Amino acid sequence: MTTTQSHSNSSNEEQSSISLQKRARIGRNRSLKQMNQRFGASAVSDAITGRLRTEKIVRILEIGFGEGRVLMEVRLLFPYSSVLLYGINHQPEPTMSCDEHFLDTSEAYNICPRSEAAKLPLPHSYFYDAGSGLDFEDNFFDVIISQVSFPFVVEKAFLIEEIWRTLKPGGKALIHLDSYENDYPHMLSAGTNREMPTPRFVIYRHGRIFAISHLFNLLKTKGFAINLVRSSEMPPHSPRPSYTESLMKVDKNRSERLSLGLELDRISTLDLKKVRADESMELSRVYWGVMSVFNLTV
Ligand SMILES: C[S@@+](CC[C@H](N)C(=O)[O-])C[C@H]1O[C@@H](n2cnc3c(N)ncnc32)[C@H](O)[C@@H]1O
Repeated sequence: MTTTQSHSNSSNEEQSSISLQKRARIGRNRSLKQMNQRFGASAVSDAITGRLRTEKIVRILEIGFGEGRVLMEVRLLFPYSSVLLYGINHQPEPTMSCDEHFLDTSEAYNICPRSEAAKLPLPHSYFYDAGSGLDFEDNFFDVIISQVSFPFVVEKAFLIEEIWRTLKPGGKALIHLDSYENDYPHMLSAGTNREMPTPRFVIYRHGRIFAISHLFNLLKTKGFAINLVRSSEMPPHSPRPSYTESLMKVDKNRSERLSLGLELDRISTLDLKKVRADESMELSRVYWGVMSVFNLTV
């Protein structure tokens, strides 16, 4: 696994040439407000505040931190040196590859002037496939968050086990697992049922579809506080009434390792951007992320 923590002096002029419009089109700039709308009220801040009551050092990880907008908004809300921020992206991008880019992001989204942002402890950024494992020791993070990123990961089951492993006892994770729209084509309906649609996280058991909600119910019966939540039919951040989301809320309530018993079926797993024949916006609404297919072996 290559872990790159970047410290470079790339040119600010080059950065400022990337307009807000272009950033919006690229879609790596969702806000803390959108994250909170997904998970409810002030879910992220509440989780951090809760941990600050008992922990001297509070570590927060965002998986798929995009341009670092959420991390910088959290930074401003909790500017203390006792709160450490971490982000993992798959690879460096023109808008996020080094510390300077956190300052650009602060300025671009009016989080705070870059001179103010420069005085704050900046997030630690890493660039690798989170599905290959989280390169951190056990019981390290207090809060792990993620939006519109987990569906891009191939090894989704291993990533969930890694989230559990790296959370401290009492730590929390808020993970947006997948999204679904009623008019998705048949090939993306295999993993879905009306209760819990995860078209990009498909599970089979003995050759038949096994609803992901059943898997999470099994975990609950084993005592793991891992809940799957279906967002309302029309969450406030969605312009489309047929849109639903599946979210995972984790409370690390026991130190035992988590094992999901899911084996990736690499032959059936499909990178959905390869299905997309062209760059049409209409198709990119459907064919994004990776449809990971698993066999439940227990
Ligand atoms: C669509 S962007 C969303 C960014 C941001 N969370 C947002 O909502 O605007 C997807 C993000 O997930 C990251 N990502 C995709 N696959 C990943 C992987 N396998 N491991 C780590 N990060 C990944 C990308 O680097 C990118 O930052």
